[in-house]
Amino acid sequence: MGRIRILPDQVANQIAAGEVVDRPASVVKELLENALDAGASRIRVEVEAGGRKLIRVADDGHGMNRDDALLAFERHATSKLRTADDLLSIATLGFRGEALPSIASVARVTLETATGEDAAATRIEIAGGKILHVDDAALPRGTTIAVADLFFNTPARRKFLRAESTELAHVTALVTHYALVHPEKHFELVSATHTIVSAPPVGRTAERIYQIFGKDTLAALLPVAAETPLAHAGLPEPPPWKKDPDEPVRDPGTMRLTGFYSKPELQKLNRNSIYIFVNKRLIRDRLLIHAITEAYRNVIPPTSFPVVLLFLEMPPEEVDVNVHPAKTEVRFRQQSLIHDFVRDSLRTALIQARPAAGFLAALDSAPLASPSLMPPPGSRLPGAPDPAPLAESESTELPIAVAEAECFQLTPRQPAPIPGKLPFDASGLNPGGWNGREAWGAAAAALFQPPQPAPVDGCSPELNIQSGNGLSPATATAQVEAEQAASTLNHLGSLRPLGQLRESFILAAGDDGLWIIDQHVAHERVLFEKILRDRQVEKVQRQRLLMPMLVELKPSQMVVFARIAEELDLNGFEVEPFGPQTLAVKAAPVGLEGPALERMLAEVIEQSSHESDEVKQNEDLAALRTRIAASIACHSAIKINTALDPVRMEWLLLELAKTSHPTSCPHGRPIALLYSWKEIQRAFHRI
Ligand SMILES: Nc1ncnc2c1ncn2[C@@H]1O[C@H](COP(=O)(O)OP(=O)(O)O)[C@@H](O)[C@H]1O
Ligand SMILES: [Mg+2]
Repeated sequence: MGRIRILPDQVANQIAAGEVVDRPASVVKELLENALDAGASRIRVEVEAGGRKLIRVADDGHGMNRDDALLAFERHATSKLRTADDLLSIATLGFRGEALPSIASVARVTLETATGEDAAATRIEIAGGKILHVDDAALPRGTTIAVADLFFNTPARRKFLRAESTELAHVTALVTHYALVHPEKHFELVSATHTIVSAPPVGRTAERIYQIFGKDTLAALLPVAAETPLAHAGLPEPPPWKKDPDEPVRDPGTMRLTGFYSKPELQKLNRNSIYIFVNKRLIRDRLLIHAITEAYRNVIPPTSFPVVLLFLEMPPEEVDVNVHPAKTEVRFRQQSLIHDFVRDSLRTALIQARPAAGFLAALDSAPLASPSLMPPPGSRLPGAPDPAPLAESESTELPIAVAEAECFQLTPRQPAPIPGKLPFDASGLNPGGWNGREAWGAAAAALFQPPQPAPVDGCSPELNIQSGNGLSPATATAQVEAEQAASTLNHLGSLRPLGQLRESFILAAGDDGLWIIDQHVAHERVLFEKILRDRQVEKVQRQRLLMPMLVELKPSQMVVFARIAEELDLNGFEVEPFGPQTLAVKAAPVGLEGPALERMLAEVIEQSSHESDEVKQNEDLAALRTRIAASIACHSAIKINTALDPVRMEWLLLELAKTSHPTSCPHGRPIALLYSWKEIQRAFHRI
């Protein structure tokens, strides 16, 4: 007697359900995708108890006739795919024919559907995979699927469901994502007590972002658009002798990218605010997340992540969507091309936009954790109508929902107004030698060797300035931030330096307002980009030390040193082993000497010892190169608490204006903040 049996459909469906349906949000995802595939223009999602009790999705799509409605619950029944070849060019969100039978095997499902052409509509009730009733009904065109008591027959799965509020938060995130990618469609999400999302059709994605997240979020984002023709379609062409001469030459098509990315000042602690849609499908993809973080490398801190909404469009044969049962992962056929396209498009956009950071945003730019793209705790989405009055017992539902899911706020929090006056008075200003213009050349050179007394380590953000002297006027409004969105750092070079504040910050006047520039990080950015440029053409200037500097290392550090020695050499160092645990530094990049040189070497060796072996060799080298450049720049840049005359200030602003990323230092700290003319006027009650 053989041991192998074919599983009954019911069991097979439950197994498939394990992959496809793991929580209410995944049911909502499948039903939403079906509605979109059916060409719906209006989709309404209702949930009760976070979707555990009920999920109902109603659409006005093309509906199904009675036969199709019955077939839809059969395993592997789909209208979206006929042959295996179709898999190569899928234009619909669904194609596996698994969702409805899987859902019906673990819940009580009611389907109501009408094509608008047949005489009668159809109503089917099915529970735990068994059809209970099939009736005629009278309904308008479209489909409504209600899924009640999810996992009622699989208690083990039910146990894995989280609190109602958490499940509701996931459902909300999902509906908002699909609403973002289809601004032309009407989306609604309602719970028993609230309208959570209400997004009537709009013309542009920006309007949808405004509808869903409000104007603060929109103001913190910048648009990006790019496209590139593909050299060949899908996988690389076979060699000519293997090619079928009769096969028609295919047009490889184009890859397009549109979307929104955050200004460097808006930072998140995790990647949950990065949204990637490929051909209108929401996906998670490590390759593209890597491309995005690469674009922001040395613009925001390595531990922070940006907010990015990325919509990629490409011919369907470029992307294999049949990789994962829940279809959240895809495989690109031209991986590195797509990676580089995304990275370069974003980086170019960042370089061109050079958005100026305002005080208000900067005061509040500590990175926030962001589990999902969700509204701020306790609030309705801005587009939602006023909530219906709540019964006492129900009134806590939504706030808990959002709080428990630790929803982040995409919109920057409003800083609490800090009473106080502008902290600079005449004594704090350092007018410097106003007639120092002749000293131009010398000053520029001297910037590489700033006066030595540097009481505070230039790389640490703390300053001996009293805290609490906030510059934030009590009149902080979101409108201000929207106005600041227009200011860029392109005019840095034409600013007029007024003087220094505590010998640490340059104050400069421009048409758009008052600028405060952190002199240390500004110089750091200038040097960083110069070092990388010089390194590329192997033109780094080195300087012999009068006496070799001896550095003691632990044996493990000696190993690390051996690994990075060549790159150090190319960056202007001449370092030789001097005994088993000692290095002799004979030459170093111009401007780096004494304790700063010692600290810089220790820092690079320390950072390089954390490196994981998994990182690919060439990536490794690029990362090492920028790390060394950042470290040299940091330790040789002009320190805070250093007096600068106007010529040096002007020079620094001019050089900063020439950099690609004058927004932030290589470690991601802001360089220049704008106190806009509007803010100033408002603070003085002039407008
Ligand atoms: N909302 C809907 N409107 C019209 N047809 C639908 C809808 N939902 C499902 N269907 C039909 O049922 C079939 C099976 O759905 P599903 O199990 O999700 O598989 P898939 O979407 O992979 O084809 C679909 O191919 C489609 O023809
Ligand atoms: Mg489907």
